Amino acid sequence: MNAHLLPLLSLLLLLILSTTSAQLRVDHYRKTCPNVESIVHAAVKQKFEQTFTTAPGTLRLFFHDCFVRGCDASVILAFRNHSAEKDNPDDMSLAGDGFDTVIKAKAAVDRVAGCRNKVSCADILAMATRDVVSLSGGPYYGVELGRLDGRVSTKTSVRKHLPHPDFKVDQLKAMFAKHGLSLTDLIALSGAHTIGFSHCNRFNHRIHNFKSKNRIDPTMNVDYAMSLRKQCPKNVDPRNAITLDPTTPQRFDNMYYKNLQQGRGLLTSDQCLFTDTRTRHIVNFFAANNTAFKHAFVDAITKLGRVGVKTGTQGEIRRDCTAVN
Ligand code: HEM
Ligand SMILES: *[C@@H]1O[C@H](CO)[C@@H](O)[C@H](O)[C@H]1NC(C)=O
Ligand SMILES: *[C@@H]1O[C@H](CO)[C@@H](O)[C@H](O)[C@H]1NC(C)=O
Repeated sequence: MNAHLLPLLSLLLLLILSTTSAQLRVDHYRKTCPNVESIVHAAVKQKFEQTFTTAPGTLRLFFHDCFVRGCDASVILAFRNHSAEKDNPDDMSLAGDGFDTVIKAKAAVDRVAGCRNKVSCADILAMATRDVVSLSGGPYYGVELGRLDGRVSTKTSVRKHLPHPDFKVDQLKAMFAKHGLSLTDLIALSGAHTIGFSHCNRFNHRIHNFKSKNRIDPTMNVDYAMSLRKQCPKNVDPRNAITLDPTTPQRFDNMYYKNLQQGRGLLTSDQCLFTDTRTRHIVNFFAANNTAFKHAFVDAITKLGRVGVKTGTQGEIRRDCTAVN
């Protein structure tokens, strides 16, 4: 082969690869529903002003959707036989406000005649996620669009696809790597725990019975553990939920990482990111520089939004986000 052609060919190949792997564009609805961003934003903002849970609820919903069958809104499907993704115990703690946000935004989009049945629920969830992040003080970023909605949702598919709060770096890393997400992406995305809540049962063993009676997880700050013991006594009401970021629970900022430096990570999967020397430097970097964290978060959530995207005959634009057409 002509040696001069080689760089040209590899450039071409790179171009083809990068366009086919993404298939998403920020201006995907430019012709079909040009105002979709402002319609969704207005609906999300209204809901956010009614209740803050809108933000963590929507953000976590996006994560759980993308990790199971890809970002295809399969997590929103509801079946009478209770065998959809959302019926799996790992998804049962998803806040109703997250689902409600997507349903309200979809209704707002469909009220605009030209936009009716043109925008997928998966894309509405992606846009709503960006909007809640930014409304909470986090970065505003362009959202890639063009996902179709999936037609399949099963309770069993959730198994082994979502991380467990007792996972440590190796298990977390492996699970994120399956979706093309790096260690830096994992740590940046875990920063989502700068807002929202966890039920006591997810971490109670760390404050009451760590390995033996009455011990506290040695990686946890003792004062923090003592205050958690008050909020989550042994026979706590299972509905009780505690803020994941004890310092600024309603601000999307890098406080999560500063907390980790002080042993104030609520879940094992949070605290291990600082305890493990392989990831500590990244935690320290994000703790020291909020701008760097925001950039890394945008990179990572954009990558997350590309996971298992459906196009063509693989999906549809659902009329009702909770049911297949
Ligand atoms: C790294 C592995 C992760 C694990 C093990 C994990 C686990 C958990 C657990 C156990 C809860 C508490 C649920 C409850 O008791 O109600 C939670 C809440 C939350 N997670 Fe994660 N998570 C992880 C990563 C993520 C990612 C990547 C995101 C989004 C980008 C995210 C967003 C959230 C949010 C916003 C909440 C609060 C939900 C609410 O208040 O309704 N998490 N997570
Ligand atoms: C539950 O209902 C859905 C939708 O009607 C269907 O696709 C699915 O196969 C059913 N699953 C089971 C286990 O019956
Ligand atoms: C923080 O991170 C940003 C973006 O990565 C970088 O431009 C800036 O120089 C950093 N600031 C400091 C004080 O290191």
